[in-house]
Amino acid sequence: MNTLRGRTAAVTGAASGLGRAMALAFADEGMHLALADVDEKGLALTKEEIERKGVKASSTRVDVSRASDVDAFAASLKEVHVVCNNAGVSPVGPLWENTTADWQWALGVNLWGVIHGVRAFVPRLVAQGEGHVVNTASVAGLISPPGMGIYNVTKHAVVALSESLYHDLRVQGSPVGVSVLCPAYVPTGISNSERNRPQELANPALSERQMALKQNLKKAVSSGKLTADDVARAVVAAIKENHFYILTHPRIKGAIQARMEDILQERAPRNPLAL
Ligand SMILES: NC(=O)c1ccc[n+]([C@@H]2O[C@H](COP(=O)([O-])OP(=O)(O)OC[C@H]3O[C@@H](n4cnc5c(N)ncnc54)[C@H](O)[C@@H]3O)[C@@H](O)[C@H]2O)c1
Repeated sequence: MNTLRGRTAAVTGAASGLGRAMALAFADEGMHLALADVDEKGLALTKEEIERKGVKASSTRVDVSRASDVDAFAASLKEVHVVCNNAGVSPVGPLWENTTADWQWALGVNLWGVIHGVRAFVPRLVAQGEGHVVNTASVAGLISPPGMGIYNVTKHAVVALSESLYHDLRVQGSPVGVSVLCPAYVPTGISNSERNRPQELANPALSERQMALKQNLKKAVSSGKLTADDVARAVVAAIKENHFYILTHPRIKGAIQARMEDILQERAPRNPLAL
């Protein structure tokens, strides 16, 4: 999409981190914003900051895991050209210690959130013959680091969903663009995503191993060299250039290549964190 100015972008997970940074970057391009999140306080802060940039912003409490919330959010917007399915959460493993609630929570936000966003918005973009969808996956959608199996499953699914969406749109001859965002560690609130976990999906306690994995994740996320603003700028560029894979951290490509080689050589997978 070449023209962003005056168009509207819908962004989920806009109260914090990458979603907030994307919303601000879109505002810098002269776009209006429709902000969605479960964190209403954070949403209000993002909205204020965006309005100071002289564009329009609305904010809506949306739980992306709920079809009816996402449908109502989409229906409330008069105009939309860019849709960022970005809200996400990050439980830690190992897989055999994860509860059903861990799976429901993370699949609900990370995967169903994207499914609902595509279902609710893409028919409209196709009908208007213009638009761009950005799905936030992760490098964990291209490699499978240990200790975060549920997260890996959701993010691999988002990559597959995005590639399939891209193919379906091309086969139909639709000009609607798709990008899948695959960053490595970026300092945001992701390692503290339990803060917005619904009570009904709460875990009684984390095991010692899970607490250690959570600490490691916190350390890794906070030491990320790129900022959320850097990633947001890459997203804006990808929309303008109609670029599909957004790999913000090129050093991780070695681990992606190793995974691909292991598959093609039919070898057991190497640990991407040990390469
Ligand atoms: N930060 C990283 O290192 C990193 C790396 C790769 C991918 N990602 C992905 O980036 C996306 C954004 O995460 P972030 O890093 O900005 O973390 P963040 O915690 O700062 O932001 C995530 C936002 O999602 C919201 N959210 C949680 N559950 C929700 C729900 N049910 N409905 C609507 N909103 C909900 C949270 O309230 C929060 O505002 C996620 O999909 C995450 O998996 C992050």
